[in-house]
Amino acid sequence: MAVQKRVVSIFLIQLVLLAVSGFNRVNGAGLRTGYYDESCPDAETIALKTIRKAISKDVTLAAALLRLHFHDCFVRGCEASVLLNATKEGGAEKDGFLNLSLRGFDVIDDVKSAIEKSCPGVVSCADILALAARDAVQLTGGLFWKVETGRRDGRISLSKEIDANLPFSNFNITQLKQNFASKGLTKKDLVVLSGKISYDNLPLLQELKYVKRLQIFNMLNPLK
Ligand code: HEM
Repeated sequence: MAVQKRVVSIFLIQLVLLAVSGFNRVNGAGLRTGYYDESCPDAETIALKTIRKAISKDVTLAAALLRLHFHDCFVRGCEASVLLNATKEGGAEKDGFLNLSLRGFDVIDDVKSAIEKSCPGVVSCADILALAARDAVQLTGGLFWKVETGRRDGRISLSKEIDANLPFSNFNITQLKQNFASKGLTKKDLVVLSGKISYDNLPLLQELKYVKRLQIFNMLNPLK
């Protein structure tokens, strides 16, 4: 049983790792690891420490932080527009219906404040979102991976852009594939990023010849 649980958890960890590499493609080129090595060498350590503290109080924040990064990247790329507030011109992304259940904004604020004390005006909120997603995964039993940094923060955030960019929960496979393709992501990315193997996405999995893996997963998955 312990071996089965381990196999399942390794499988899920792989999903998350592939998911984050998918987000990097949404974000575009020009990123590199160690971007803040000279300008703010403690940035990642400060982020990890702050996120660890938050997750130790409420472990479900780990999921919320991963989702924040996803919802940020799918609208205007990974540039922290999900964090901005409404202006007199209209509602911000966070006011859009699909974003109303987002959580973890206060954790990102705490990380930003802590980093600002060491290096004011250096580390972008977009990079903090990416680091937070990685740290959240790692702190809840996932693997560590190096996050490429150097994102610039956007200044535009419009609730009216949400519906055209984020997937709705009632999307069928065709719509999901179209949505991901519009972000430069593949069918494989869709399965991997969704991180949810169920009979709902069986046709897609069959198309991708993942059925064997699905069968193995279902044999191991007690929640099937
Ligand atoms: C593929 C299309 C996707 C759809 C249609 C979808 C839809 C949803 C919905 C409806 C919820 C529940 C929101 C609520 O509580 O009201 C949810 C939660 C969540 N989603 Fe997705 N999602 C998708 C992809 C993803 C991806 C790519 C990720 C990250 C890799 C992700 C991470 C999460 C997480 C972590 C939660 C729980 C958040 C929390 O506990 O606060 N989802 N999603």
